[in-house]
Amino acid sequence: MIVDSIRLENFRNYKDIELNFCDGINIFQGLNGQGKTNLLESIYICSVGKSFRTSKDIEMINHEKEYFTVNVGIKNDATDKIFIRYDRQKQKAIAVNGIFLRKSGQLMGALLCVLFCPEDLLILSDGPSRRRRFLDIAISQLNPLYYYNLQQYTKLTAQKNVQLKQIKKNPKQKDVLFVWNEQIAEYGSKIIAERIKFIDVLKDLANESHAYISEYKEQLVLEYENTIELNEYDERHIKETYIKTLEKIMQREIEREVSLIGPHRDDISFRLNDLELKKYGSQGQKRTAVLSLKIAEIEIMKKNTGRIPILLLDDVMSELDKKRQEALLSYVKGVQTFITCVDSESFDQLKDTQNYIFNISDGAVSKL
Ligand SMILES: Nc1ncnc2c1ncn2[C@@H]1O[C@H](COP(=O)(O)OP(=O)(O)OP(=O)(O)O)[C@@H](O)[C@H]1O
Ligand SMILES: [Mg+2]
Repeated sequence: MIVDSIRLENFRNYKDIELNFCDGINIFQGLNGQGKTNLLESIYICSVGKSFRTSKDIEMINHEKEYFTVNVGIKNDATDKIFIRYDRQKQKAIAVNGIFLRKSGQLMGALLCVLFCPEDLLILSDGPSRRRRFLDIAISQLNPLYYYNLQQYTKLTAQKNVQLKQIKKNPKQKDVLFVWNEQIAEYGSKIIAERIKFIDVLKDLANESHAYISEYKEQLVLEYENTIELNEYDERHIKETYIKTLEKIMQREIEREVSLIGPHRDDISFRLNDLELKKYGSQGQKRTAVLSLKIAEIEIMKKNTGRIPILLLDDVMSELDKKRQEALLSYVKGVQTFITCVDSESFDQLKDTQNYIFNISDGAVSKL
């Protein structure tokens, strides 16, 4: 799929702009604080419905305005346009191909997009919630039902936590937990099964691209870390084990007043040449590993959907040595790519006349 146009109204520091993009590499260059990342963000929200920098949509409305709109035109795909409007009354409207969606979750999959930004390094160095978020966004784009199950699971877990507090005060109510656990295991097992399936494919592809970029010196091994001990990975078995484990730890959950096991506590482990990457990896090795994850994600999207996602790279080029820049761009040939950088002149790989270069200065965009 190709994003061939965008129109922004009152989005962050853009008042009203309209741009056309090329099928290959689109470069946004400009000094710090001019609006490069804002532009990537506006494309990204058409894919996931939310920003990658903030959970507060209101921050994306221009300070002086009451609402923002984003209009994206797409070609070579069943989706041909996406529209988002958000206002200070917190009303969000999303339309795909001119049809307004009832729930924003229905947007998942309309525009397939893989983003790499500096914060992605936190996937490796931060706590497990980053890694779960990475998995959840990646799988939701491929499988909107996964997103729905995840929402249900999150809601149920929050409600169960409220119950646990009450039961601690009044243990006679304990029996209601069986009902909650049954429902949680129903959704939770679907989520775990999907995640394990996804990691299974992801780990081989990520290892392949990591090996390529590191000139076959490094081996990357990924593994899903379950809080429920499993011997088999089909959904039925997961659910049975899930319920049994919940029964075993019921008393402990009441004591602690929180749900202690399940997808909201699971993690992914990353090992490089048999050492834990988080503890022993260098900055460059971590960056390469995350890059490999993203490349793997593109490959999975291509395979599973027959559609080619777009790639958004925020401030990535300047952090990579020449060899790795080259490897990255050769790996993603055929994928429409949006790159931000301070000065495209310093990247030999970008000096292709086919690429579009946009100068960005204080919310004004001019094509070179
Ligand atoms: N809601 C908003 N309304 C108006 N301006 C905003 C809003 N949100 C952010 N900005 C402005 O956008 C600018 C930052 O844009 P952006 O993050 O895209 O910069 P950038 O070009 O990516 O810079 P860098 O190279 O430092 O990453 C800042 O000047 C900020 O004040
Ligand atoms: Mg930026």
